[in-house]
Amino acid sequence: MIADSLPDLFGNIIFKTWIESNNRDMKEISVLEQLAYVGKRGIGALEYHPATSIAVGDTININEIVAVLSQVMDQKQHVDATHLDHASLLNIFKIGTSAGGVRPKILIAEHKVTGRIIPGDMVHSEDYYHYLIKLGLDEEHRYSRELVEYVYYLTATHAGIQMMPSKMIDERHFATLRFDRQNGRKKHVLTASGLTGWDFKDPKVSSYEQLFDLALFLKCPHKDVEQLFRRMVFNLVFANHDDHLKNHSFIYDETQDNWGLAPAYDLTYSLNPDLNMKTASRALSLNGKRTGIVMTDLAAIAERYTIKHFKRTLIEIQEAVDFWIKTAKEQHVPSRIIEAILKNFSPFS
Ligand SMILES: Nc1ncnc2c1ncn2[C@@H]1O[C@H](COP(=O)(O)OP(=O)(O)OP(=O)(O)O)[C@@H](O)[C@H]1O
Ligand SMILES: [Mg+2]
Repeated sequence: MIADSLPDLFGNIIFKTWIESNNRDMKEISVLEQLAYVGKRGIGALEYHPATSIAVGDTININEIVAVLSQVMDQKQHVDATHLDHASLLNIFKIGTSAGGVRPKILIAEHKVTGRIIPGDMVHSEDYYHYLIKLGLDEEHRYSRELVEYVYYLTATHAGIQMMPSKMIDERHFATLRFDRQNGRKKHVLTASGLTGWDFKDPKVSSYEQLFDLALFLKCPHKDVEQLFRRMVFNLVFANHDDHLKNHSFIYDETQDNWGLAPAYDLTYSLNPDLNMKTASRALSLNGKRTGIVMTDLAAIAERYTIKHFKRTLIEIQEAVDFWIKTAKEQHVPSRIIEAILKNFSPFS
């Protein structure tokens, strides 16, 4: 459970850069010290005391952050952390290490009336929109992964998948409202990995059945089980292979004392469309398979978890392929990327 509060791959790069910029070695930093830095700024509602206090900056400039992050993330050149702009790095450290995942991201809050953007760890208030922003850094791929994720978001919500409202910022960054900050309150959320201790990189525990069973164990309402099924079909049809256990979360409602499925996130094309990845297999298996999944596999899951109208769900998701194509064109995703991604979609006959 606590591991969910620790930085992941991206957060760890930032953590290390920050520690080195203070002339310390990451090897000296224990997990407890890392949690003291997390303090009250973690995803979800867990907080760690006593927190290590770090200077408060009250505004942020996304362009500045992107410029510094591009240097930090440029693997071709070794960056001497002590030469980086200290104020920007401090901001990135505070708002870029809490959320998990591989992609560069920050947490910010935007004032609902003035539009002023402040670091995401300062307030949780109804006066602000709380966003998680996946930053577009112009890396190696020559196309915007964030834009592709936005097209997936538009398509998934069109196909009845519940997600937090999301938008593009400066046509470059993908911003999604946080489900762990709602109505001015912190919500307790954990990933499927955090709830169970299942390693999201271990194929033995990585299956949709494990997720469905977890939802049942948590006594989530049946509509959540249906929603999970719809999400699974979406991931299959739209070739989102990166559907691992940290890409599904559950959220606790303290007013009702019950758990529910958190909105979907990180639905996107996870491979590099410039490479031909015919053999890629998905993170979560289904009916014992990671490739070559057919209708009877879906039917087996639908029966096991009493999914109503499973064929209708399937049709609705498949029909969304045309919507995806139309939306990708409207959003100016390059046609070579559209074609490469389309080739990997797997409609069911
Ligand atoms: N809308 C949201 N509200 C609250 N937390 C979120 C939201 N979206 C994502 N998260 C949290 O942030 C983490 C990272 O987000 P996301 O999975 O989108 O990033 P990623 O870097 O693409 O991940 P991956 O390493 O799986 O590719 C998630 O595992 C989840 O815990
Ligand atoms: Mg993820």
